[in-house]
Amino acid sequence: MKLGRGSAVSRVDDTGAGPALEVTDLQAGYGALRVLHGITLSVAPNEVVGVLGANGAGKTTLLRAISGAVRPQGGSVVLHGRTVTGMPDYELTRAGVGHVPSGRELFADLSVDDNLMMGAHSVPAARAGELRDRVLELFPALGSMLDRRAGALSGGEQQMLAFGRALMTDPSLLLLDEPSTGLAPAIVASLFDALRQLIAEGGMSVVLVEQNAGLALEVVERAFVLRQGRIVLAGTAADLGNDTQLVDAYLGA
Ligand SMILES: Nc1ncnc2c1ncn2[C@@H]1O[C@H](COP(=O)(O)OP(=O)(O)O)[C@@H](O)[C@H]1O
Ligand SMILES: [Mg+2]
Repeated sequence: MKLGRGSAVSRVDDTGAGPALEVTDLQAGYGALRVLHGITLSVAPNEVVGVLGANGAGKTTLLRAISGAVRPQGGSVVLHGRTVTGMPDYELTRAGVGHVPSGRELFADLSVDDNLMMGAHSVPAARAGELRDRVLELFPALGSMLDRRAGALSGGEQQMLAFGRALMTDPSLLLLDEPSTGLAPAIVASLFDALRQLIAEGGMSVVLVEQNAGLALEVVERAFVLRQGRIVLAGTAADLGNDTQLVDAYLGA
């Protein structure tokens, strides 16, 4: 299938004032199971938003419906002014959506370097080289294990690799699915340092899914709280941070 404007890489309205991402009344699920019951949210260019919620609230399904891993059952996804609802994941990758999936989904038998380069397969070679340099600056530990099997890495190293692979797609919108899950605090701190550096550089919008609300509210500007596939609370990080009782009430499983 061709992309809308007849170009292999088309980022419509990148410089415009419109949202980077606009999700309207999005419905998605698995077969007969409806998980998302009409999600509406938007993310501005360079904005960093959080999606919080208890286990099973639908956070992963939301990111998967945006990245094309799950086909929406209703509603729309608009990226920089272009409707991309229902496009397959590889086209959304080309359109600028970088996804760090829940569970990382690395190619366990491929090397670290090959995993990174898989991310860049639709990026021009010169740009891929720049991106690889940047990823290795952000995650120096990966540089010393480029030839190792991804499956042999520790959990933290695998999360860095999944992060790096998503960056290799040269995203304008980065979707991060619970990067902190299962990792030691020191590893989480270094992952979030890398995220902060990226955010400070600008040029990318971020949707950060976290069960750890305190951690997420330290880096995001706004957040949405999901419960049973619906947005039940939304506000600035400051507002939500000041109302931790309310947020906690929705995060309890
Ligand atoms: N592949 C799948 N097949 C069927 N049901 C699923 C699948 N993935 C998730 N679900 C169900 O969808 C609901 C939302 O899951 P999920 O989006 O993973 O929530 P969260 O990321 O907030 O924990 C849960 O009830 C879960 O059991
Ligand atoms: Mg999840």
